[in-house]
Amino acid sequence: MSTKLEKAMYNISALADLGQAITSEDAFHEKIQSVLYVITGTFLANKGAILFYDKSTQSLNTLTQKGFAQADLDRLNPVELISLGRNKSCLIGDAPVLAVAGAEILAPIWVGDEFIGALLLGGWLTAGPLASEDLELLNVIANQIAIALNNHSLFMDLSDKLEDNRRLYEEMRHIYHGTLQAFAAAIDAKDAYTKNHSHRVAKYSVAIARELGWNEHEIEGMYVAGYLHDVGKLAISNTLLNKVTPFTPEERIEIRKHSTLSRNITTKIKFPWKNVEDIVWHHHERLDGRGYPDALAEDSLSDGVRILTLADSFDAMTSQRPYREKMDVQTAIGELRKNLESQFDNKIMLVFCRVLAKEIKGELPEPDILPHLDRNSDLSVISDLLEGIISELSAR
Ligand SMILES: [Fe+2]
Ligand SMILES: [Fe+2]
Repeated sequence: MSTKLEKAMYNISALADLGQAITSEDAFHEKIQSVLYVITGTFLANKGAILFYDKSTQSLNTLTQKGFAQADLDRLNPVELISLGRNKSCLIGDAPVLAVAGAEILAPIWVGDEFIGALLLGGWLTAGPLASEDLELLNVIANQIAIALNNHSLFMDLSDKLEDNRRLYEEMRHIYHGTLQAFAAAIDAKDAYTKNHSHRVAKYSVAIARELGWNEHEIEGMYVAGYLHDVGKLAISNTLLNKVTPFTPEERIEIRKHSTLSRNITTKIKFPWKNVEDIVWHHHERLDGRGYPDALAEDSLSDGVRILTLADSFDAMTSQRPYREKMDVQTAIGELRKNLESQFDNKIMLVFCRVLAKEIKGELPEPDILPHLDRNSDLSVISDLLEGIISELSAR
């Protein structure tokens, strides 16, 4: 191998990582540009271009170039290049295809039987014809670029697929949200007193989950669970739901079926959020094992269940019910505090107090809890109460 070829091979080996996976469009363009600079440097050419053949539009696109007029490159006809066949390694000199683009060398790039682009060079700084070793080198380079372009086109296909999936997922979310609102409207229509209860529980749950540092997917699952936790009430009689006098033991058994009914309904929907079923099923469980339907306790209760239990109870207490008046906010918070460890989780209570305190101080741009609280609430009293609970629970 001649010294010139050795030197060139050394340069080209610096480009070996071209064949590796390309992880972004920007990284690809940066790489392909440096490839072109190494090639034009190695061949002492003033002009160089790397073109990519887009199968879907059947056009040649300039990935990077220097020295050419873009209009000249645009005149290249890919059909002509393809018709030369894959065994034609390089076009040199005065081939008509080259004259069109003002180039002196064109190396078509193939992967297997597929034409995927071309490398063009021109404006030699050295006199004399190209040696056979130069052509050999060009073939090596063309192969190297072929791998890079092929990876790139696989990457682009993959990106397209990801984009399609993202679009499908967005549409699906849209449908889910529509379904959720329809369900919530149906529950509201049945039970006038719990109007917007599902919506508020969803909002409170999301606020707690976000403050806990959950990711967006998990937060969305929490939102869906909040919306659907009482959907089983659709199967309970209106008379029972709207009863003004206390429930008989039989009626209590009947009404308690709603969490299992909610679970039965939600399992029929193939949600992308894994925890929805567990949360709606167990939203009336308690840490001391005295809840329903399964009398689960402590470790059997997920954080999602603990969040919903607290959000649900807080909203139930601060809402008017057929059989009792609503509580003011500070009394309801006091009730949550009184039932810590038996019914509600310390950590979730701490986070709930923190997020509500932040909302009252105006530290959160879009409050989820505050807008739903009684407008006559004394916020400074609530703030003091929250701060007291926060320091008490933080010290534990
Ligand atoms: Fe419930
Ligand atoms: Fe509820």
